[in-house]
Amino acid sequence: MLLQTQSITKEFGKLRAVNHVSLDINKGDIHAIIGPNGAGKTTYFNLITGYHPATSGKVLFKGKEITHQPAYTRCTLGITRSFQITSIYPKFTVYESVLMALLSHRKVTLKFFSSANKFFKEKVWNILEDVELANQADTLGDSISHGDKKRLELAITLGTEPELLLLDEPTCGMSSDETESTMALIQKLSAERGITILFTEHDMSVVFGIAKRISVLHQGTLIADGSPQAVRASEEVQKVYLGGTA
Ligand SMILES: Nc1ncnc2c1ncn2[C@@H]1O[C@H](COP(=O)(O)OP(=O)(O)OP(=O)(O)O)[C@@H](O)[C@H]1O
Ligand SMILES: [Mg+2]
Repeated sequence: MLLQTQSITKEFGKLRAVNHVSLDINKGDIHAIIGPNGAGKTTYFNLITGYHPATSGKVLFKGKEITHQPAYTRCTLGITRSFQITSIYPKFTVYESVLMALLSHRKVTLKFFSSANKFFKEKVWNILEDVELANQADTLGDSISHGDKKRLELAITLGTEPELLLLDEPTCGMSSDETESTMALIQKLSAERGITILFTEHDMSVVFGIAKRISVLHQGTLIADGSPQAVRASEEVQKVYLGGTA
């Protein structure tokens, strides 16, 4: 098991957004967290990355407690969430953006930019090829298409060399073609780089298409967890969420 939450809880004032969620995330899995709007999916992710402190409960990564570790420490350990590229490096090229991500992750200062570039060149190209952005390497971040921005977002994320990658609605706003290629890419990253993927998604065809395991949140509470077949068959899940459409 790679990550474990033990009875993790997050309260915002009187609202309990995440309610005693105990869950194991297995290494190498593509694991979906689903549930209606406001179910607590994003908040749960924020408890894992350390963006929000937990009200109570524990988070363990590779068996070590990280509940009180700050977000940057968790990132150094290998827990990464996808970044919003639009707010990061729009004036850098695609190539430079990925290089920057690698440099900041390895704590290389810009003083050594040119020697670092030589050192990391191969890694950058490797990532760009993986996400199929090599042909856009010299294009500025803000002049590529929406779908390519999402790919760049993933490329930058890969620059932090994640072991556990959290993707919150990775196909949001994409056409069905873009959705399909993004999901194929996520499967490739999982298979070839051995990255464990935890993702949220509202499109059930995407979820049931690639998830090996699915956990369902409803009003902050985990109401089902298991194989796609088991979750689809759960009466409670049908009642509160899938409603017979899946
Ligand atoms: N920073 C915050 N302060 C106060 N309440 C919050 C905060 N973040 C989330 N909430 C509340 O916590 C609950 C869970 O929200 P969350 O964003 O985790 O749901 P979600 O499952 O990600 O929903 P969606 O599918 O719409 O993205 C909601 O009622 C939301 O309004
Ligand atoms: Mg959300």
